[in-house]
Amino acid sequence: MAEEEVSNKQIILKDYVNGFPKESDMIFKTTTVKFKVPEGSNAILVKNLYLSCDPAMRFRMRKTEGSYVDSFVPGSPITGHGVAKVLDSGHPNFKKGDLVWGRSVGWEEYSLITDPETFFKIGCTNVPLSYYTGILGMPGMTAYAGFYEVCSPKEGEFIFISAASGAVGQLVGQFAKLMGCYVVGSAGTKQKIDLLKNKFGFDEAFNYKEEHDLDAALKRYFPKGIDIYFENVGGKMLDAVLLNMRLNGRIAVCGMISQYNLEQFEGIHNLVFLIIKRIRMEGFIVFDYYHLYPKFLDMVLPYIKEGKIDYVEDIVEGLESAPTALVGLFSGRNVGKQVVVVAHE
Ligand SMILES: NC(=O)c1ccc[n+]([C@@H]2O[C@H](COP(=O)([O-])OP(=O)(O)OC[C@H]3O[C@@H](n4cnc5c(N)ncnc54)[C@H](OP(=O)(O)O)[C@@H]3O)[C@@H](O)[C@H]2O)c1
Repeated sequence: MAEEEVSNKQIILKDYVNGFPKESDMIFKTTTVKFKVPEGSNAILVKNLYLSCDPAMRFRMRKTEGSYVDSFVPGSPITGHGVAKVLDSGHPNFKKGDLVWGRSVGWEEYSLITDPETFFKIGCTNVPLSYYTGILGMPGMTAYAGFYEVCSPKEGEFIFISAASGAVGQLVGQFAKLMGCYVVGSAGTKQKIDLLKNKFGFDEAFNYKEEHDLDAALKRYFPKGIDIYFENVGGKMLDAVLLNMRLNGRIAVCGMISQYNLEQFEGIHNLVFLIIKRIRMEGFIVFDYYHLYPKFLDMVLPYIKEGKIDYVEDIVEGLESAPTALVGLFSGRNVGKQVVVVAHE
């Protein structure tokens, strides 16, 4: 019935994207949505509150096969991680009023979610709700799984993190400091370097854009070499790190953002050091570790409450700001976790 429908603003992907994504690859559209879950379905209808801008969304803007995530469908709303409020539910585990976070929130005001079992119900609400797009959501779990599960860290080890001030990197560095490691991060602006050193407590940080010789920069900060590299960028940085790894070092390959907009990926020259230095280099996807989420919350919520961990967010208001926010990840415009507010609860 007409009165059960409300207008629904959306961000639509125009077509598959080549090269760097642009705002004009996405268009704004207003449609309508039925305000009830279809009879007999186990879907949930949600009001979207916070959207997460994530580098991996770039993969979904190209036509890919055999990836761990599906491509977006041109002409349809972009989807991604987000926080939402349940308005109607056909699923026994969710009821009206529940707050949830998950990976298939539409870039629109209201979404009908047909895979609610992939969503987490939000229990703790005495923290900013936007945290469930960052420290208490997918990026937080990525930092946790990548650092504790993949890197096998030990007190006193020498840790290097690239894209260190971002959604994931800022947490890896703080986890490593809490464990008593020596931590250095790289990032792309002076403001980010200040954050790393003065807010997140990194021992050192450098602006990779100002270093002509990344190998020399790493030797300056790690005269004895690197035990753990938390890889977020790939390309030339990975090559330089390989020259500086210590015996039995570990490289957790979380992301390679420098490669995401290239038509052809760059080659890596120094892989022979994996043998010489007996290095374990391991890629991982956070989804494989979601069973650890309750354990992660038990660790991180007290850290937040006791002020032992800080989390910097870059929050923009309004669905119409989302394309600019997403595109900005690839030029380093975001300072901290990039979040878009669609509606306040
Ligand atoms: N494996 C997984 O399951 C998983 C899950 C989440 C994220 N990730 C990956 O983790 C990495 C960090 O994600 P995030 O959400 O924390 O993003 P983020 O760091 O908050 O944002 C991306 C940052 O990457 C840096 N960057 C952009 N282009 C670059 C380039 N060409 N070279 C070097 N740095 C560049 C920019 O910072 P600067 O100003 O410092 O350049 C930008 O701010 C990404 O590679 C992402 O794909 C993986």
